[in-house]
Amino acid sequence: MPKIALIAASEIASGTGREVVAEGRIFAVYRQDEEFHVLDGICPHAGGPLGKGTLQSGIVTCPWHGWQFDVETGQHCLSSEICAARWPATVEDGMICVTLENAADS
Ligand code: FES
Repeated sequence: MPKIALIAASEIASGTGREVVAEGRIFAVYRQDEEFHVLDGICPHAGGPLGKGTLQSGIVTCPWHGWQFDVETGQHCLSSEICAARWPATVEDGMICVTLENAADS
């Protein structure tokens, strides 16, 4: 599957996230300074919108029930058995991009 451009890097302020719909999926895109991270936008707990969660010190808190994930790894903060799917993000021509076949589901 080809690389897809999700959103312009300039549209995301550092320390925040955005929900982006592309290729029939919902992605959660986060920015920390000049680092960008992309997780599945659907919380593995009960489907909450991870892209609309609060980001603090690299941890996103789901707005529905408060589960927390490391946005760099997708790892749940309390359980080693829970991990949100993530995709390595690149910035090309100012756009945050992912390649879906590189999904690191776990
Ligand atoms: S749906 Fe995300 S914490 Fe419940």
